[in-house]
Amino acid sequence: MNKNLCCISFPGTDYQSIVLEKNQPLSENLTIQNSPVLFGCRTGICGTCLVLIKGEIPPANQDEKEVLEILAPGNQQARLACQIDLTNDVEIQTCEADK
Ligand code: FES
Repeated sequence: MNKNLCCISFPGTDYQSIVLEKNQPLSENLTIQNSPVLFGCRTGICGTCLVLIKGEIPPANQDEKEVLEILAPGNQQARLACQIDLTNDVEIQTCEADK
């Protein structure tokens, strides 16, 4: 695949994979039609967009870490989808899928 593209997949769901250019904010590209991820504030506060991520992406910043520590303590895969810039292929699982 073109090196400037990343593939986002949603294993365990009926959603098709999405291909985006690198360094795109996920929150501007995922919609209720194309992904199972739901967003609320989109600023890293509400926790609606909590997901589990598999793939190499930049680590959470301090603010995101603090929210993750409350929502998913100790879970290294937990991230806030609205705070992620895409730099690589990722697999995304919503937290509901786990319940
Ligand atoms: S949408 Fe509120 S934390 Fe991501």
